[in-house]
Amino acid sequence: MKYDFTTMLNRHGWDSIAVDMKENELWGIPKGETLPGFEQIPMWIADMNFATVNTVTEAIIHRASHPSFGYFIPSDDYYQAIIRWQKEGNGVTNLLPEHIGYENGVLGGITSAMRVLCSDGDPVLLHSPTYNGFTAQLERNGYKIVLSPLKLDENNVWRMDFEDMERKIKEHHIHTALFCSPHNPTGRVWERREISQAMEIFRNNDVYVIADEIWSDLTLFGQAHTPAQSVSEDARNRTVAFYAPSKTFNLAGLVGSYHIIYNKYLRERIRRYEALSHYNDMNVLSMHALIGAYQAEGRIWLSQLKTVLEKNITYAFHFIRENFEGVRLSMPQGTYMILLDCSGWCQKHGKSIEELQQAGIRVGVIWREGSMYHVPYGIRMNLALPHEKVVEAFSRLKQYVF
Ligand SMILES: Cc1ncc(COP(=O)(O)O)c(C=O)c1O
Repeated sequence: MKYDFTTMLNRHGWDSIAVDMKENELWGIPKGETLPGFEQIPMWIADMNFATVNTVTEAIIHRASHPSFGYFIPSDDYYQAIIRWQKEGNGVTNLLPEHIGYENGVLGGITSAMRVLCSDGDPVLLHSPTYNGFTAQLERNGYKIVLSPLKLDENNVWRMDFEDMERKIKEHHIHTALFCSPHNPTGRVWERREISQAMEIFRNNDVYVIADEIWSDLTLFGQAHTPAQSVSEDARNRTVAFYAPSKTFNLAGLVGSYHIIYNKYLRERIRRYEALSHYNDMNVLSMHALIGAYQAEGRIWLSQLKTVLEKNITYAFHFIRENFEGVRLSMPQGTYMILLDCSGWCQKHGKSIEELQQAGIRVGVIWREGSMYHVPYGIRMNLALPHEKVVEAFSRLKQYVF
């Protein structure tokens, strides 16, 4: 393997909340003491314990070597890098620079879109399990969360419940849906026909769609991402989509997400809203990081990363099934998260999910319990670590926790 996915980066002191967990109300830091002698293994927040691709650091260093950092507007290279990346990765062929706009974080973009699409206090349709960032942003901005639970089918695959979605849309007079694709925290990669069916429901009920496709590069086991905007002409116009190189290349700290909005009316309204605060402006180093990432070498790095993630997920899946009685999980098709349903284990052992989480933290497995994802007996684990660390974490869980 050309790139190093086996060394555990020492991130202490290098601006990493994953390992230097200082209390902060925004981040839902797992609380609890780790016993002396157990090194902490960060398996909670969604960033990776791998070095990013060298073309990112080279691009930043190259730009930083010129000692002028004045005002700027995004370069043509920036737009072309995104257009190329979306074409090669997602088969998007008709993307123009005017459809693309910088976002100060996908969550920031989603919030702006909501401000334009919703009236104050409006209900918004989401699936549960739910990414905690969605819940937090909706609550902070005073919107009403209406959850349509995903369901496991007979093959243990998470599915949308289309009837439930439509019923709730009608019952609550919903006109905005927040659609996560691929889905965090289940790791489901939606098939084209599933997205089409959801879009049909949205069309029939005048629901605008905010598609969070931040995980779209991290589809695994041969799955392909289908952009929500690609399933029909109507979907293209009713959907605002958000992307970023941050999950793919571990760049969250640089902040550099973007939207794709084909519908001119929505695009202009959202951009106008974003201009009000004057805060939605790009950092020049973040622009160069994206350009460094979205090129041929980034693609090769990504394909090697995926091999590592597939190995970790496969290992964890089988280990859990063979060793942790009462814990269930569905095999993720994308992301680097796994979502455990520990209800059977908790019932059998008379333990709460918080006690289970604490038992893991005591032996250095820093994981997150599921209430923040609307999964009462859930635990979410991040597997973007060197394989050896994943093996170590599961062996501690077997020996001391389950
Ligand atoms: C589905 C989803 N959307 C958005 C984000 C956050 O994106 P950003 O840092 O660009 O706001 C995350 C981070 O984990 C995520 O999982």
